Amino acid sequence: VITGRLLGIGVGPGDPELLTLKALRYLQAAPVVAYVAAQGQPSIARQIAAPHLPPGQREINIALPMHPSPELADAAYDEGSSRIGAELERGRDVAVLCEGDPLLYGSFSQLLTRLGSVYPTEVVSGITAVTAAAAAALLPLAIRTDTLTILPATLPMEALRSRLRQTQAAAILKVGRHLGKVRQVLDALDLLDRAIYVEQVSTAEQRVMPLVDVTEVTVPYFSLVLIPRGSDQ
Ligand SMILES: C[S@@+](CC[C@H](N)C(=O)[O-])C[C@H]1O[C@@H](n2cnc3c(N)ncnc32)[C@H](O)[C@@H]1O
Repeated sequence: VITGRLLGIGVGPGDPELLTLKALRYLQAAPVVAYVAAQGQPSIARQIAAPHLPPGQREINIALPMHPSPELADAAYDEGSSRIGAELERGRDVAVLCEGDPLLYGSFSQLLTRLGSVYPTEVVSGITAVTAAAAAALLPLAIRTDTLTILPATLPMEALRSRLRQTQAAAILKVGRHLGKVRQVLDALDLLDRAIYVEQVSTAEQRVMPLVDVTEVTVPYFSLVLIPRGSDQ
């Protein structure tokens, strides 16, 4: 029996032009596309890929509860994996659309764990929000022997502080309602003046500005903070 292939497709950070040629070819050829979305919300990855999707493609929407417990999230991924598995068993390739890169803080990892050892699997890397943000800000993130640390803003304050102390450059993801904490940590480390805030990079809603100029208390989930290397380093 020849099964279909599980294809993890990075669709980039938002601009439908920031897909690779390979991602484009794979998602247009796949009879089935799948994506993960917060329950009741459109899938961001599907929105990014929408201009490229051929008519008549089957779609699998894996709906995640809003603030899922690990058990509820597991149940949603189990259920989604079995629907994808059913298509793969019928010999149909399933292209899983993933915002940015599939394996950088992406839910594709959940599907890879469940299906990757059972079905032929391929991942097409995508442009990440981190590198797209550096491009939008026209800022070298790291050069020569610099270290670059990627941190989720969801970490406790002390963990953020100690990681940021040990790196020359950083990207802080999942800022959203953790903005206050991030600001406080950067201020304490004297990094606030260097920090650049980037929201919805590569979309029409993109905002790029010094973090000190952000007046909101909380910001959208699709935002990050870059701490580029210091010019004195
Ligand atoms: C779950 S992670 C997914 C990262 C994604 N797989 C990637 O490779 O860029 C989501 C976080 O990435 C960042 N992010 C993703 N897309 C973004 C965008 N278009 N603009 C700014 N930040 C973005 C935000 O910090 C967001 O909270």
